[in-house]
Amino acid sequence: MKDHHQERIAAAERSLQNVRERVASDPWRPRYHVAPPAYWMNDPNGFCYYRGEYHLFYQHHPYSPLWDDMHWGHAVSRDLVRWRQLPIALAPGETYDRDGCFSGSAIEKDGKLHLLYTGNIWTGDNRDTDLKQSQCLAISEDGVRFDKWAGNPVIAEAPEGDIHPFHFRDPKVWRHEGAYYAVLGSRTKDHKGQVLLYRSDDLLRWQFVSVMAGGREGYGYMWECPDLFSLDGRDVLVLSPQGMKPDGDKYLNLHQAGYLEGRLDYETGKFEHGGFTMLDYGFDFYAPQTLLDERGRRIMIAWMAMWESEMPEQERQWAGAMTLPRELRYERGRLITLPVAEMALLRTNPVSLDQVTIEGEAELPGVSGDCFELELLLDIREARSAGVKLCVNEASGEETTLIYDRESGMLTLDRERSGQGPGGVRRAPVEVADGGLLRLRLFVDRSSVEVFAQDGEIAMTARIYPGAESTGIRFMADGRMRIVALRKWDLDRSVGLEESADPAAAGGEL
Ligand code: FRU
Repeated sequence: MKDHHQERIAAAERSLQNVRERVASDPWRPRYHVAPPAYWMNDPNGFCYYRGEYHLFYQHHPYSPLWDDMHWGHAVSRDLVRWRQLPIALAPGETYDRDGCFSGSAIEKDGKLHLLYTGNIWTGDNRDTDLKQSQCLAISEDGVRFDKWAGNPVIAEAPEGDIHPFHFRDPKVWRHEGAYYAVLGSRTKDHKGQVLLYRSDDLLRWQFVSVMAGGREGYGYMWECPDLFSLDGRDVLVLSPQGMKPDGDKYLNLHQAGYLEGRLDYETGKFEHGGFTMLDYGFDFYAPQTLLDERGRRIMIAWMAMWESEMPEQERQWAGAMTLPRELRYERGRLITLPVAEMALLRTNPVSLDQVTIEGEAELPGVSGDCFELELLLDIREARSAGVKLCVNEASGEETTLIYDRESGMLTLDRERSGQGPGGVRRAPVEVADGGLLRLRLFVDRSSVEVFAQDGEIAMTARIYPGAESTGIRFMADGRMRIVALRKWDLDRSVGLEESADPAAAGGEL
């Protein structure tokens, strides 16, 4: 008997094959961030640790650099840093997922990897109102080939109550005290974001428990991609609300990603929580998903883009990338996010400078690049404002600036002059205590920058599209700043090595 699913996967792989090499040579291609081998990527899906490897699936359209019928792309890594692409895991086409395998999650059961995802069907032309979503299962014996469950969908309909019947998606599954639970993204009938809680003993039969949280004014019209986990004794609900209104420097992107902290009562299915906190203050961070690894770390990864943003790489036949995997910890009374420690595996060409005074603007010897990590400890007591310019090309005037203003306590990321693509400015509150020390950790990967301030208290992420010559780094201070310590490393290429002409570099043993 013909296996239509595997045939559709093979066709999608052939489509990618035609453009893969061309895409790999694009100067904007990230070297250490996961990106699709070609064409479109959005949300991370099924992020999990299975049989000694980290698996990262992602929303993928393998026929064009535009969002369309969703497949699940698949990458795998032993160390969260060096990733290799595997064949596409899911292709749409059954009656229940004809128009897309939407976001979902993964869990191991009986040694097999189970994917719980949303089957999407369009029932008319209006993509907001004419849709039917159900929850489906796919199972793999080896973590590479996935077969859809013959009994799909496993949750055919949204439950009764004040629950929108069609916008019903993005199951995230976990195990708790011998049972499986899943949260799902939802909205009320009058369009207020909410999360639904389900329970199952076997991943096949699911019972609706309750509306777990949401339904309030001011939190947007739909909650996408919920994720519930406990961290250091508290429960955290990560979610991606659509339609929150801008509030000062907050919620300026089209959609938001953040978390609610509280406690889930598994008996009543209710989540008591505090206010919404953003997980990233930049431009490009959406639909984060987490996993718990063997070492007990809670690790988050997100789509490093935003719906409806201009994406200049589309002209080069690809679109989108993932953020770095970030470890979540509860420290100093708050959730902090920092790239996983394994990032240090990629460090090369170290540069180290101590006690350098900057007044005005200056370059420093050996400090430049387009694929690097830069750690800065800055004494800014004698500066009104201080910061660093990245991806600078003095001739063309390109630069991406990061500047801290002491009076307002705001860190500003400015991509107005970054190159092609969208501009804009984002500001984040950063506390600099009396000692006047500002700690910054920056990761630049050709067309992206990720900023971590004060040991992960604040993160800011942006896609930028500089010219290939824009590799300068300049330091600046209005007044005087002392660079107490500067550490910089180039970061090796760790993604997309399969496309490399050098078979040794592409070797399986990463
Ligand atoms: C979030 C999202 C999900 C949906 C997927 C479709 O970015 O809209 O809610 O499952 O993308 O690609």
